[in-house]
Amino acid sequence: MKSFHVTTFGCQMNEHDSERMKGMLESLGYAEAERADEAELILFNTCSIREKADERFVAHLNQAAALKRRDPERVIGVGGCWAQSVKDQVFRQFPFVDVAFGPGQVHKLAEFLTSDSLTAQGFFEFEGFTGHLPTKRARDFQAWVQISVGCNCRCSYCIVPSTRGTEVSRPFGELVAEVERLVAEGVREVTLLGQNVNSWGRDLRPERRSFSELLRAVDATGVERLRYTSPHPKDMREDVVLAHAELRSLCEHIHLPLQSGSTRVLKAMRRTYSRERYLDRVALIREHVPDVALTTDVIVGFPGETEEDFAATLGVCEEVGYDGAFTFIYSPRRGTEAASFADGLIPHEVAVERMERLVEVVQRRARERAQRFVGRTLEVLVEGSSRTDPTKLRGRTRHGKVVNFSGLAAPGDVVQVEISAATSQTLAGEESLLARALG
Ligand code: SAH
Ligand code: SF4
Ligand code: F3S
Repeated sequence: MKSFHVTTFGCQMNEHDSERMKGMLESLGYAEAERADEAELILFNTCSIREKADERFVAHLNQAAALKRRDPERVIGVGGCWAQSVKDQVFRQFPFVDVAFGPGQVHKLAEFLTSDSLTAQGFFEFEGFTGHLPTKRARDFQAWVQISVGCNCRCSYCIVPSTRGTEVSRPFGELVAEVERLVAEGVREVTLLGQNVNSWGRDLRPERRSFSELLRAVDATGVERLRYTSPHPKDMREDVVLAHAELRSLCEHIHLPLQSGSTRVLKAMRRTYSRERYLDRVALIREHVPDVALTTDVIVGFPGETEEDFAATLGVCEEVGYDGAFTFIYSPRRGTEAASFADGLIPHEVAVERMERLVEVVQRRARERAQRFVGRTLEVLVEGSSRTDPTKLRGRTRHGKVVNFSGLAAPGDVVQVEISAATSQTLAGEESLLARALG
């Protein structure tokens, strides 16, 4: 039997695409190898969101080249956003690559492997959703469901619209049927995926649909936990917020990317909302879902960001009090509007220094926010054993908080955990044996 190995970089979209690659390869008779050096087919699913992402991947690719020199029969494939962003150049830059394909062309890998062509092949069309591939999930009880491909926003810093194409929503009925099937297979938690999930459905014909309608229909399948990522603040309307208050399965967690707290910078980023409008969305969410966990993404050092603009970002982080945040130093990306900005470039040291101040505020507020969980008993979906202490279990609350706890549960169980301590990142506690006894 032939063997393969996939290394995945980037976001949940890529993780999910890799699950589909693995499912497809197994259906072609391949078996997954534990390590790349044991595999005949070495695949990389790449990301290009920041420069660092590119660099990390190139180091891996060079290791694969060394393996291929030892054993020229090996096949090396490169998929994902980086591949899409450089297209056929990949073969010039890395002549040992046999097949390259964009995020929308995962299925073409099968075509390549079953053809008898020995020449390098590239697949970079945008075809909308090309799902319907068998999926090999990392955990039996959790599943991703991709609800749309591409993105119609034009955030000036972002490479994604050029690597994933324009937005195409998958049909309502097809998505509901997919979740029904997953629930029947024993999936307890479903995460809906898209670059801008809450604009889902506007392009559907003959009947337009709304994201909140989809949330209601998915809730009605009986799935235990429902999540989604990422929503765009501009499309975070009251119907979606109310769904959080009303739907049993929809978790009390919203990832609402801020990017900047300065209206001036937001405009240059083409985010299409102001600081006030963003804060107004937060207020609406907290009014209807008071205990919600809010997380965000922030970019520092965007061209033209003044000390005053940065102070505005710190101000929003202070005021909102996020439960967690991903913070990034701006990285110019080829072909994006912001990469052509020549004025107001921020020296790296300045960006690093701003990043440190931002992280201080984010972590302090997250730690403070997390104290509200201490003393409460929370529902936890067990994911495995703790990364730091293998005698303990690890799981997630509905708020999306990681909990390390002692108990008797197994992965996939939903248990009650008494929370005894909290840091900015994780909670600690003990499984409620009373709840277990009461069953
Ligand atoms: N579609 C999603 C995710 C986009 S990528 C969304 O809009 O929320 C995830 C995050 O990477 C973005 O939210 C942004 O904070 C960051 N990011 C994107 N492009 C970047 C760049 N050029 N430099 C630094 N960070 C970037
Ligand atoms: Fe990129 Fe903006 Fe689209 Fe997110 S919404 S993928 S940041 S263009
Ligand atoms: Fe995701 Fe990276 Fe592409 S973040 S959408 S894999 S550029």
